[in-house]
Amino acid sequence: MSGTKSPNGVSRRAFLTATAGSAAMFAAGSLGGFATATALAGKPVGGGTRNPLYIPPTTSPTSLTLTEAPGVVDLGGGKLSKAWAYNGGLPGPTLVARKGDTATITLKNDLPSEPTITHWHGMLVDHKNDGHPMEAIGPGGIYAYSFPILNRAALNWYHPHPHMLTGEQVALGLAGGFIIRDGLEDTLQLPGGTREVPLVLRDTDLDSAGNIVYKPRSGGWLGSYPLVNGTRNPYLAVDSALYRFRVLGGANARIFRLALSNGAPFRVIGNDGGLLEASVLVANPDLAPGERLDLLVDFRSLAVGTTIMLRDLRAGWDLLEFRVARTVTDTSAIPTTLSTITPLANPVTTRDFSFDGMTKINGLEYDMQRIDFQVPFGQVERWRFRTNGNAPHPVHIHGASFQVQTRKGGRNQVFAWERGWKDTVLLEDRETVEVLIRFDAYKGIYLMHCHKLEHEDMGMMSNFEVI
Ligand code: C2O
Ligand code: CU
Repeated sequence: MSGTKSPNGVSRRAFLTATAGSAAMFAAGSLGGFATATALAGKPVGGGTRNPLYIPPTTSPTSLTLTEAPGVVDLGGGKLSKAWAYNGGLPGPTLVARKGDTATITLKNDLPSEPTITHWHGMLVDHKNDGHPMEAIGPGGIYAYSFPILNRAALNWYHPHPHMLTGEQVALGLAGGFIIRDGLEDTLQLPGGTREVPLVLRDTDLDSAGNIVYKPRSGGWLGSYPLVNGTRNPYLAVDSALYRFRVLGGANARIFRLALSNGAPFRVIGNDGGLLEASVLVANPDLAPGERLDLLVDFRSLAVGTTIMLRDLRAGWDLLEFRVARTVTDTSAIPTTLSTITPLANPVTTRDFSFDGMTKINGLEYDMQRIDFQVPFGQVERWRFRTNGNAPHPVHIHGASFQVQTRKGGRNQVFAWERGWKDTVLLEDRETVEVLIRFDAYKGIYLMHCHKLEHEDMGMMSNFEVI
C-alpha cells in the first residue's frame, strides 16, 4: 500500500488541493438522532447576551462506550447547531479515573463515511491503545480499548487521530477531557466539586444556519468565534471562593494568551503532565493546541455582583465571564509545595528534528507504514526541535512525557508554565527547543507530530518505535 493513501483512499495530493481552496468546506453530517438529550443537559435555553457555561458530564472510563456520531448541540442561546460529537456532547463527557484503575472503552464509529480512531492525548498506553492512525476503524466499526491508568494526576484529553482527517473531525466537535487523580493530589485538598471546572478552549466557524463548518487552511485553521466548553459567549456563576480551572488548548491551530480583566495573575499549579513542584503566579500564560494548564483563581475578596472576564490577548477575545453570585467562607489554603518532579538527566543520545514547511519533519512527509527512527526503552535522550519557518508548531509526542530544558532564539526562554512534565511544547519561528525524554512505559510504535492539526494532516508527523 502506498504511504500516501489514507484509509479511505484519499490521496495526500487531493487533500492538499482541498485545503488550499477557500471553497473547501466540510459541513457537519446530517442530523443524527443520537445526540440531543446529553448535548442539551446543563445548557438551558437563554435569550440573553451571555450563555451559561456548559459543563460536560463526568463519567468513568471503565465499561464505557464512546460513540463518534453526527449530532446537534446547543452552542448557547438555544439555537441548535449540527456538529460531530462524542456521546452527543461538545465537548464529550469528561472521563475521570484514578491512577491504578483500568480503562475499558468501546469506541463506535457512527460517522457517515469516514474512518476514525480515538487517541488519549497524554495517557501512557501501549501502541494498541494509543489510537494510532494504523488502527483506524471504518464506518460502523468498533474498537475495544483496555489499559491500566499509569499516569499521575493530570488533565489529559481524547480526540480522533485518523490519517489526514484529524483536523476535520476535531474541528467538527470531537474532543473531550480525561482527568486522572491520585493520592498525592488528594493530600493537597485543592478546590473540587463545582469549584473545579474544566475549560476546553477552541475556536470555530459557523455557516449561515449556525452549523459548525471546517474550512481547512494549510497554514492552520483559525475560526471566527471562541467556544469555551462548546458555549459561545459563556458566563460562569461563582462563589466568593478559590477555584481550580483545568484548561485545555483544544483549537486546531489557535494559540490563546490568557488574562483576567482585573489584571490579577493566575496561580499556575500544573500543566500537561500534572502538578508542578510549586505553584507560580503568571499573568498571561500562552496555551497552544494540545497543551493544558491547571490554574487557581481566587474570587474570595470579591463582592457579589463583581464580574471578571477571562480574556485571550492574542485575538482580543472575551472568552468567559465570571460572575460572583454568592458570598461564602472559604478558608482553603494554597499549598506551596505541590509535587516532586525528578529531573531527567545525563542524556545518552541527542536527536535533532527540523519542522520543515507545513508538511515535513526532517524533510519527510508522514508515511503510515514507515518507521523513521528507533528509541531504546528506558534511556534518557535529548530531543532538539527547530523550525525554518511556518511556525507556530506545537510539538507533541506520544508514549512519554518530557521535560523542557532550553529554548534558544525567538522567545529565548522556558516559561514558568512549561516546567514539570509536558507532552506538547510550542515551537515558534527561529526557536530551538530542547527536551529530555525517556520512554519507560511501553515498547512499540508511537507518533511525534505538529499539533497544529492541518500540519499534522498534511504530513508533519513521524512514526518511531520504542525498542
Ligand atoms: Cu493530541 Cu497525536 O495528538
Ligand atoms: Cu506545524
